Amino acid sequence: MSTRSTARRVIAALAGVLLAGSMAACGNSDTGGDAGDGGNDKIVLGFSQVGAESGWRTANTTSIKEAAAAAGIELKFDDAQQKQENQIKAIRNFIQQKVDVIAFSPVVESGWDTVLKEAKDAKIPVILTDRAVDSADKSLYKTFLGSDFVKEGRLAGEWLVEQKKAASGPVNIVELQGTTGSAPANDRKKGFAEAIAANPNLKIVASQSGDFTRAGGKQVMEQFLKANPKIDVLFAHNDDMGLGALEAISAAGKTPGKDITIITVDAVKDGMQALADGKFNFIAECSPLLGPQLMELAKKVKAGEEVPARIETEETTFTQEQAKEALPNRKY
Ligand code: AHR
Repeated sequence: MSTRSTARRVIAALAGVLLAGSMAACGNSDTGGDAGDGGNDKIVLGFSQVGAESGWRTANTTSIKEAAAAAGIELKFDDAQQKQENQIKAIRNFIQQKVDVIAFSPVVESGWDTVLKEAKDAKIPVILTDRAVDSADKSLYKTFLGSDFVKEGRLAGEWLVEQKKAASGPVNIVELQGTTGSAPANDRKKGFAEAIAANPNLKIVASQSGDFTRAGGKQVMEQFLKANPKIDVLFAHNDDMGLGALEAISAAGKTPGKDITIITVDAVKDGMQALADGKFNFIAECSPLLGPQLMELAKKVKAGEEVPARIETEETTFTQEQAKEALPNRKY
């Protein structure tokens, strides 16, 4: 073989290698690629949000978007509109796009094992935020970041037990539950029931889901008022349902906060205003400001660092007087 033809073969082989390399790079970007591999060092976080059902949720979404921008994390955000099937679809999309980390706030507790297994097989770490799943296999996710919902329900119930300790007859309670099957609805119900068991006069006479929305709270409270001539207390699993219920209570000719004692969870601005105005009586706080901690966790799990299995948010409770003090500085 001549020297010239050997040189031609070497050049052809080199050209082939270069072409194959550039085709592989194109393939990555066509499928969304991995930002880390595509020359972009930013962590890509796929986040599936429950929806926009409440003031709490809006504040939570803002916190996550702002924290991602501040941390230099590329956020792929999906709104599931309160539907589990939409969340499963979003998680599968994130897997296909090869994001670095997946985080989500599961609309309900059950039914996640298959899709979480798919994420694990794809070696994409998953972080649960705000709401938990009931999967027995804890290796399907790295950590949970959020509130102790049982404690929130218990604090609400303990306050009521103290307020009604002198009651000599039955105290009729109606309960507006959150989304059926969701962790906050299950856990707040449990914690509240456990606490009020301390006083046999305290009885839940009706309990139904208002889906964490104002419209749901109003509609279900209207039904409660029609069906129950004597309602002494409303326990609403969030501020928004409590705020919706205020309309139904006023329309029924009753004074909220006086004729009916109202206890809620969250402490968003509108809820705190209702508490300061004397329309609500007590709020157990649930903080939506999870964004900064979530970004820290995303960085750590991407780097392969160990993280605690559960990280709980610090929260408090508010009486009417405390709401008046806190309201001017309330950010959400
Ligand atoms: O999961 C947190 C709950 O979801 C909040 O209490 C409620 O307002 C929201 O919709």
